[in-house]
Amino acid sequence: MNTEFAPLLIAWQRRHGRHELPWSGSREPYRVWLSEVMLQQTQVATVRAYYARFLERFPDVHALAAAPLDAVLALWAGLGYYSRARNLHACAQAVAALGGFPRTAAELEQLPGIGRSTARAIAAFCFDERLSILDGNVKRVLARLLAFEQDTAQARAQRELWALADALVPTRAADMPAYTQGLMDLGSTLCTPRQPRCGECPVAVLCQAQTQGRQAELPVKSRR
Ligand code: ADE
Repeated sequence: MNTEFAPLLIAWQRRHGRHELPWSGSREPYRVWLSEVMLQQTQVATVRAYYARFLERFPDVHALAAAPLDAVLALWAGLGYYSRARNLHACAQAVAALGGFPRTAAELEQLPGIGRSTARAIAAFCFDERLSILDGNVKRVLARLLAFEQDTAQARAQRELWALADALVPTRAADMPAYTQGLMDLGSTLCTPRQPRCGECPVAVLCQAQTQGRQAELPVKSRR
């Protein structure tokens, strides 16, 4: 399983994954960070226009750091979760003070508004770091792949999922961007919460839930 998963996912991502999003294929930390923060709680369709406007008004992290907070909040209006905009501004100022984005997930995670999964997405896309993301979609993919029976809302289950996720990353660091985008694309296009499209899934042959016909029961998730 561990050695078969990544090559199948990567080949699928290169052929069938999403390549036409405005941030697709970017290795530029500012662009990747901005898209990931916007996508944390907002749909791709909404993010597109905001992302373009942000880049036009604030073409780099220094421009964003130098702007008044009010200008950032005004441009964020409509995206919701305004703490994201405040953190975005604070993060830009911290990065500008550092002279640029740090190049490891461990350091990125210290910055305002960058959680563990976002830090790892930036590190994988921009710096090929071999650590996995783990957002809600990826938890669902892994819970099905491994027929993971624990309640994914529990802290202990999440610790195990992080370790399982890291055990699946590709051997070649240069594959990390395609792999990471593949995880995101699989979770949002095929391995959906309801009626997953297992017939098109590149890793169906490895998937325990699919083998057992239990896709609808997994993941186990309590309401918190
Ligand atoms: N959601 C979070 N990150 C994403 C990305 N890079 N592409 C598409 N959807 C995403």
